[in-house]
Amino acid sequence: MIIITFGTFDLLHIGHIKILERAKSLGDKLIVGVSTDKFSIEKKNRKPVYSENERKKILESLKFVDEVFFEESFDKKREYIKKYKADIFVMGNDWNGKFDEFNDICKVKYFDRTPSISTTQLIEKISQV
Ligand code: CTP
Repeated sequence: MIIITFGTFDLLHIGHIKILERAKSLGDKLIVGVSTDKFSIEKKNRKPVYSENERKKILESLKFVDEVFFEESFDKKREYIKKYKADIFVMGNDWNGKFDEFNDICKVKYFDRTPSISTTQLIEKISQV
């Protein structure tokens, strides 16, 4: 089984680790679409702290991540799912229902987010020190 997931994964934290670990446990190969800096700014109105190349390299070094590619836009998700022949599409439940349209080509699963942590919260916490 091939699993695919997407995200910015800036300032990698325990919530990211848990969803990636859980996604990999569903199959044999985990492929991650990491948002480019440009796409991330469009989504979050903020430039990521780590560059796209740094975020890609960090994800590639995780033992449960098999392959990482750059995600350039929401519109290309269907194309990426097909290109990487993904059987299962995983996202956190902040996206609940948003990607159900892909159920025609793969199984769409939403995992509960890890409570009380996000990149946004981390940035706020660090900037208060
Ligand atoms: N995620 C999670 N638990 C968290 C934070 C993120 O499961 N506490 C998941 C998201 O649901 C998504 C993936 O990790 O599937 C990548 O999320 P991303 O947006 O990069 O991380 P956030 O910490 O949510 O970033 P931000 O605060 O900038 O929105």
